[in-house]
Order: sequence, then structure tokens, then C-alpha cells
Amino acid sequence: MHKFSVAPMMDWTDRHCRYFHRLLSSEVQLWTEMVTAKAILYGDKGRLLDFDVGEHPLVLQLGGSDPQEMARAARVAQVWGYDEVNINVGCPSDRVQSGRFGACLMQTPEVVARCVDAMRQVVDIPVTVKSRIGVDERDSYDELVNFVATVAGAGCDDFFIHARKAWLQGLSPKENRTVPPLNYERVYRIKRDFPALGIGINGGIVTMESVQRHLANVDGVMLGRAVYHQPYLLSEVDAVIYQKTLGVLSREQVLLRFIDYMKNQQAQGVPIRSMTRHILGLYHGQPNARKFRQLLSGKTVELTHLYKWLDFVEGVE
Ligand SMILES: Cc1cc2nc3c(=O)[nH]c(=O)nc-3n(C[C@H](O)[C@H](O)[C@H](O)COP(=O)(O)O)c2cc1C
Repeated sequence: MHKFSVAPMMDWTDRHCRYFHRLLSSEVQLWTEMVTAKAILYGDKGRLLDFDVGEHPLVLQLGGSDPQEMARAARVAQVWGYDEVNINVGCPSDRVQSGRFGACLMQTPEVVARCVDAMRQVVDIPVTVKSRIGVDERDSYDELVNFVATVAGAGCDDFFIHARKAWLQGLSPKENRTVPPLNYERVYRIKRDFPALGIGINGGIVTMESVQRHLANVDGVMLGRAVYHQPYLLSEVDAVIYQKTLGVLSREQVLLRFIDYMKNQQAQGVPIRSMTRHILGLYHGQPNARKFRQLLSGKTVELTHLYKWLDFVEGVE
């Protein structure tokens, strides 16, 4: 298991976002947004799955619960070049529940096990699971143990656990990421009780100090919102977590490389805002943070604005 992952986030961790994050760390594991198995099988595969080679190591997260569909989608993922395929057992949205996948699958570990088994029969890349610590009233430690044991029995060796339960009724997906309390100890205990499994922890982790504390108890950490809103956090990861000190880029160097990327993408018809929206937080915590956000939130956004920005910050320094 990779020690550090940037969480899968729907509408956020698209390929442009991932390209940007990769500029900040060559080591972290990147994740796609959740893509349903059905979309992969019947939709526009290129649009859903294409990525830049620089994005590796890269996980495709799948939504679904039909073992045969999940297996076929996993096969496509492997052929497309993904390094790992992950099953979403954490999303509580109504849409996902009506498709009988996501967090509600915590109630039927044997279905997840059947998916893992079918997928593993057709791919060589790891098949992993991202879950919660429980759902609704089914949130005892024993139930989590039963879930992990059942799914591990089908050959899943790595689990990423969002350390809070989900309520399937009454809370929006957003509230389900803040209202149920975090319980890191439960995830640590899973690691102690299943020492042979790779266990990754997720939820509410926002500093490198806490990343290191968690890594003393589990095998991996996964950060979502903190990285999205403060992406420069990633620039410390290679040195602090992976002991690789070469190649840390300044914010301006990152920006310059991302401008090159955007130029290329624009030439292929990609709207600039669908890329700049991911970099609003690049200057988070810096004196010019607000100015940078404003620049990218104006009526028109052009690459020339970003070149002027670079002249401006370099002049300030
Ligand atoms: C906008 C947004 C979209 C998300 N989409 C997904 C998703 O597609 N699949 C998934 O497993 N989790 C999804 N999540 C949950 C995150 O992966 C993560 O578990 C959660 O945000 C907690 O981590 P954090 O506190 O570090 O953000 C999403 C979270 C956010 C904020």
C-alpha cells in the first residue's frame, strides 16, 4: 500500500486536477473520481478513463455491485493502464444507494466479496476497497471486523477506511463527511487485528504532523479536502514521507508547468476554467492567496493573466 494517497473526489479529482497534483509530488498515489462500472461498459471509455502517463501511480475507483459488471470494468481498467482498481463502499448519496452500491454495501459484505473475487479472476492489478467504519445502526466494531474479514477472504489485501460511519438517510453526502464523528482508534484496531492487511486511514487529516502520527499506526493515509484546498501541502510529502528530497518545485515553477499543460489542453478544446478551477488554492496561506483566487474567478480567465501573475509574484519576491 502506498503511504500517501489523494482521495477520490467526484467532480474534483479529474485528470486535470491529478496532473496538477502530480507536479507537486512524484510519489503520492492519485485516485480518479468514482466511475460506475456501467458507465465504463456502456459509455465513452476514452472520456471516462484517459489519463496522462505522468499520473502514475493511479487508482481507478469503481462504483457498482454486480460481480460480472465489476469484473468486466476492472478488466478495462487494467487494459487502460491503471495500477489498481478500487471498489467504492463509502458513498452514501441517494443516487448511489438507488443503484445499490457505495456505502450501503457495508451491509452486505458477501456482495463485496463476490465482486472482489470476480474482479481478481480477470486482472493482475490489486483490487482494493474503500469503506466507512459502519453505516446507520450497524456500526459496531464486530460488524466492521465481519466486513473486513469477509472481503479479505475473497482476496482483497488493502482497505482504505474513512474513519466515520455514514447515515444512509437524512444526511447529504456533504454532511456525511462532517457530522458523524471521526473514530481513528477503530481503524487502528482493525490494523492490530488484521496485521497482514494493508490498512489506510482517511477523514479529517489536514497536516503533515498528523499524517506521520497516523503512519505509526496504519500503513497508509489518504487526504481529500485538505489537499484540494491547500495543494501545496503535497510539496512536502516526497521529502517527509518518502525521504526523497530532490525535485520540490516552487509554486511559480508548478504554475509555469501547469500553464504549459493548459496550453496543450486548450489546443485540444478543453475550456480553461475546467483546469484553473483546481488551482485556486495554490497560494493558500500566502500573502497573495486572495488575489490569486480573484484572478482566477474573474469574468474572463486567460493564460496571459497567469503569465502576468508570475511577473507580479516574482517582482514581489
Ligand atoms: C467533493 C467530494 C467528492 C467525493 N467523491 C468521492 C468519490 O467519488 N469516491 C469516494 O470514495 N469518496 C469520495 N469522497 C470522499 C473522500 O474520498 C474522502 O473519503 C472524504 O472527503 C474524507 O477525507 P478528507 O477529510 O481528507 O476530505 C468525496 C469527497 C468530496 C469532498
